[in-house]
Amino acid sequence: MKKVYIETYGCQMNVADTEVVFSILADAGYARTEEIADADVIMANTCSIRDNAEQRIWGRIEHFRSFRKKRPGLVVGILGCMAERLKDALLDSGKVDLVAGPDAYRSLPALLSAVSEGHPQINVELSREETYGDIKPVRLDRGGVSAFISIMRGCNNVCSYCVVPYTRGAERSRDWKSIVREACDCFAAGYREVTLLGQNVDSYLFEDVDFADLLEKVAEVSPLLRVRFSTSHPKDISDKLIDTMARHSNICRHIHLPVQSGNDRILEKMRRRYNREWYLERVRRIRSVMPDCGITTDAIVGFCSETEDEFRDTLSIFEEVGYDAAFMFFYSERPGTLAARNYPDDVPQEVKTRRLEELISLQNRLSLESNRRDIGREYEVLVEGPSKKGGLRGGDGDQREGDLRGGTVQLCGRTSSNKMCVWEDSAEGPGAQGSGAHRPGDYVRVRVTDCTQATLICELA
Ligand code: SAH
Ligand code: SF4
Ligand code: F3S
Repeated sequence: MKKVYIETYGCQMNVADTEVVFSILADAGYARTEEIADADVIMANTCSIRDNAEQRIWGRIEHFRSFRKKRPGLVVGILGCMAERLKDALLDSGKVDLVAGPDAYRSLPALLSAVSEGHPQINVELSREETYGDIKPVRLDRGGVSAFISIMRGCNNVCSYCVVPYTRGAERSRDWKSIVREACDCFAAGYREVTLLGQNVDSYLFEDVDFADLLEKVAEVSPLLRVRFSTSHPKDISDKLIDTMARHSNICRHIHLPVQSGNDRILEKMRRRYNREWYLERVRRIRSVMPDCGITTDAIVGFCSETEDEFRDTLSIFEEVGYDAAFMFFYSERPGTLAARNYPDDVPQEVKTRRLEELISLQNRLSLESNRRDIGREYEVLVEGPSKKGGLRGGDGDQREGDLRGGTVQLCGRTSSNKMCVWEDSAEGPGAQGSGAHRPGDYVRVRVTDCTQATLICELA
């Protein structure tokens, strides 16, 4: 059996896609390996969202090729968004043998059998229908508690800075019946959390089932199955969705609502199709229905022609919303996008870097303030496993096996609002189960006693 090794970059959708690829390849008789040196086929599932994401992949390709010396017939392949964006240019580089775009994974077995020295293979055809809805993903080991379910592909929004509509093609929704079936399979296999994935989940529509309906159907699989989703677009997040979340306690109280900028002129130029006031109204609506809902965001600083005052509007909307967490980036021009064709990338790099640092340090304060407000409160958390960083004492390295001392183990898990908690779990103490410490997939009640900017430090309640 030939062995395949895949490294996954980019967003959660790429993780879900790698699971689909392993399933397609398993059916064709390939085995999966986690040891790069053992592989007959080495592939990277890639991301094009920012230039540095692509630069990192070029470095990895060089590394993959170094295994050729020991393994002559080794195939090096590129999957995902960079495959779709660069197409033949990847083959022309002479560095890769196989290129397959996000809608071409069913052809991987054929491409792999056809590939040979001097005969590279490529399929970057995009599809209007492909959703891989019938494929049962081979789950990558992420602890066995939380699984990703892809509910749609592509994007029709064409935000001016963004490469995704070009790399992933037109938006299409997957049959809701196959989504619900996959959620049931996950639950039966012991998973206790599923995250429904799409670039703009609020525009999901299959037959007459919209995203709120779909969310409800998945929530009804079991009250013990937590349901999360990502990403919501502020222009499309509906009252119906917010009300549906509120009706089901197992739909997690967390919305990732990328704002991108707090300034109306920049938002317009980004083609986001909402303004600051619209965004703030959506936040007020979410909080009036679910006061405990976590809200996180993405933002870009230094977009074409952004002035200092316009950047200050991003700082002020962060302050006004008080995000629980955020992913922040400086603008990276992507060839072929509307912005690249129409607007000069004219904010100097040192200004972009300084604005980004300023925004990150503001968010660090907001994250800490958000966590401090939780001190003294109790939460139900879903146990994910031993805490990885030993957060209680901080910084004492990787402790995958848990910190076994005096009958206690340090566990971690998330609140419904997506905050990471760590606590000493004991077989005896308050809240403990007679049979011993809690296991991944259990729900436990914890009380927050302290915090860092990234973590709630808790005890069993
Ligand atoms: N579909 C999601 C975003 C997916 S990309 C949405 O619409 O919100 C994830 C994040 O990458 C974006 O939210 C944006 O903040 C960032 N991003 C996208 N294109 C970028 C670019 N050209 N430069 C810098 N950041 C970018
Ligand atoms: Fe990109 Fe906009 Fe689509 Fe998100 S909604 S993937 S930012 S084009
Ligand atoms: Fe990157 Fe493609 Fe996802 S560009 S962020 S891997 S959709």
